[in-house]
Amino acid sequence: MVYREIGQVSSPKRRNIRIICLSLVLIATVILAVTLGLTLGTTSSGSLKETIINRCNTYLKDNGATSQNDCEKIWDSFTQAFVGKDTCDVPPDAYDSLIHSVSQEPACNRMLFWSKTKEIVHAFTEKRSCYVTLEDTLLGFLLDGLTWCGKNESQEIFTTECSSWSDCVNNPVRSFWIQASAAFAASACGDVSVMLNGAIDMPFNPTSIFASVEVKNFNSSIMKSLTVLLVTKEGDVKTCESDASLKDLQNQLDPKLKYQCKIVPQSTIQTCISQPQIACDDCW
Ligand SMILES: *[C@@H]1O[C@H](CO)[C@@H](O)[C@H](O)[C@H]1NC(C)=O
Ligand SMILES: *[C@@H]1O[C@H](CO)[C@@H](O)[C@H](O)[C@H]1NC(C)=O
Repeated sequence: MVYREIGQVSSPKRRNIRIICLSLVLIATVILAVTLGLTLGTTSSGSLKETIINRCNTYLKDNGATSQNDCEKIWDSFTQAFVGKDTCDVPPDAYDSLIHSVSQEPACNRMLFWSKTKEIVHAFTEKRSCYVTLEDTLLGFLLDGLTWCGKNESQEIFTTECSSWSDCVNNPVRSFWIQASAAFAASACGDVSVMLNGAIDMPFNPTSIFASVEVKNFNSSIMKSLTVLLVTKEGDVKTCESDASLKDLQNQLDPKLKYQCKIVPQSTIQTCISQPQIACDDCW
């Protein structure tokens, strides 16, 4: 009894001490992260150029066919889109000159779009060249995962403290992906696929880039068909036929385009990622 009483009295105290210790560790972690962030941030405009030029050279080395591309010129066109402009003042068409500065043949019959499946799609295309996403093209490869912005009346380039995707409509990163996606979709030719997420309510979400930009830019005089690959996990009940958002997708497509939809279990994609000897055609 006595012990239990002592225990009851002291355990809230001990809990307090534990909470204080945890808070201190948390505060220390935050301070460390902020300091690191600031240190990296101050040197970032130099390293953004390095990152992009390095990616450009790597890409051109690994994909010989695009030798008309000049990495320095591409960098210059890129900076012209946003340097000297406020971080909420860069519209999509600011990137037109960048998009024109990059030369690449469209990968007809191999183009793969995605929405809410980014990770698994890229895990797949990293191992398999039978499909090409925007991020596997030179333009997308250069800027994937990066953040950048400029400042009104300044020549500086920032990679931190930029407005984020949802802060304002015309932010430099969002505008880039909108314009690059529009161009990629407009070039889509032959049989085209899109990987959608069968584990969420609306695999075809009207606010997604795929719905709001890419589908609107498909060109039925060069594209033949769209195949939805609906990625499902074990236990998902969604089917191609039952999902209402996929009906919307069909309705929005040019009727000249053939539409197909297939359920693709995530485990099948994983198997194809880890076993390169399985032919792409046998993956789904
Ligand atoms: C940029 O700066 C100029 C001069 O200070 C000002 O007139 C203009 O309104 C600014 N633009 C933005 C978008 O802040
Ligand atoms: C669709 O593609 C054709 C053939 O390349 C082209 O002439 C036409 O301008 C394109 N349409 C649009 C809206 O871009």
